Amino acid sequence: MDLKLSIDKNNVPQHVAIIMDGNGRWAKQQGEDRIFGHHEGVNSVREIVEACGEIGVKHLTLYAFSTENWNRPKEEVDALMELLVATISLETPNLNKKGVKLQVIGDIESLPKSCQDELQESINITSGNSTVTLILALSYSSKWEITHAVKEIAKQIEEGKIKSSDVTSRLIEKHLNTSQWPDPELMIRTSGEHRISNFLLWQLAYAEFYFTDTLWPDFRKQDFFKAILAYQNRERRFGKTSDQISQN
Ligand code: IPE
Ligand code: IPE
Ligand code: MG
Repeated sequence: MDLKLSIDKNNVPQHVAIIMDGNGRWAKQQGEDRIFGHHEGVNSVREIVEACGEIGVKHLTLYAFSTENWNRPKEEVDALMELLVATISLETPNLNKKGVKLQVIGDIESLPKSCQDELQESINITSGNSTVTLILALSYSSKWEITHAVKEIAKQIEEGKIKSSDVTSRLIEKHLNTSQWPDPELMIRTSGEHRISNFLLWQLAYAEFYFTDTLWPDFRKQDFFKAILAYQNRERRFGKTSDQISQN
């Protein structure tokens, strides 16, 4: 049965964040090297972006490369950067056709120039689209992002532009990379790991977490719809009691 049919269209998360994990283990299971797994993972990305368009998820943030991933063997890092350039170049017409707008978060300046250029071109080409905003987290880590935000705010105080009493949760949010989008209501992590790995620490403060043992290259539309259905069965209380929620 197509799980899409069971989804309540009035309770679809506006923003889903995914830690796409398990490419290496998937490849190993096939007797291939890790890079093969990353290549296969691109097919899952394509499907999940499409699935978002089908059910009305407006924002999708994908954790594609973390600050910590720079510590992997050089051959793997190089292959990931090459794959990124090739994928963006190949997929941009398809993204554009589907109304997908590409955006990035993270320390983009640390990426090779060829990646930066390819990303910028795709961002420009897709800038007028509005069906789904696809946000790639690249050379991203939450501690990096928050440190960067704190530095900017401290500088404004130093220069006398604002006072310390002006520092609010809203002001901090404005200095995060994600300032223009709503916080994710749902965070999915594949591959059976139950950790957040420095991803969107602030923005996931009240997100629902969904963990699956499925490895990323095997995670396809029906798996995504299953996660959405699990989300729809949760009661989001935001500190209130269950009775208060059901009265509303
Ligand atoms: C996720 O898969 C992709 C990236 C982190 C770039 P992994 O490469 O972490 O795969 P596993 O976790 O080693 O199986
Ligand atoms: C998290 O996966 C980063 C991405 C998916 C890009 P990792 O595989 O790097 O995370 P850890 O090291 O297992 O926590
Ligand atoms: Mg991993």
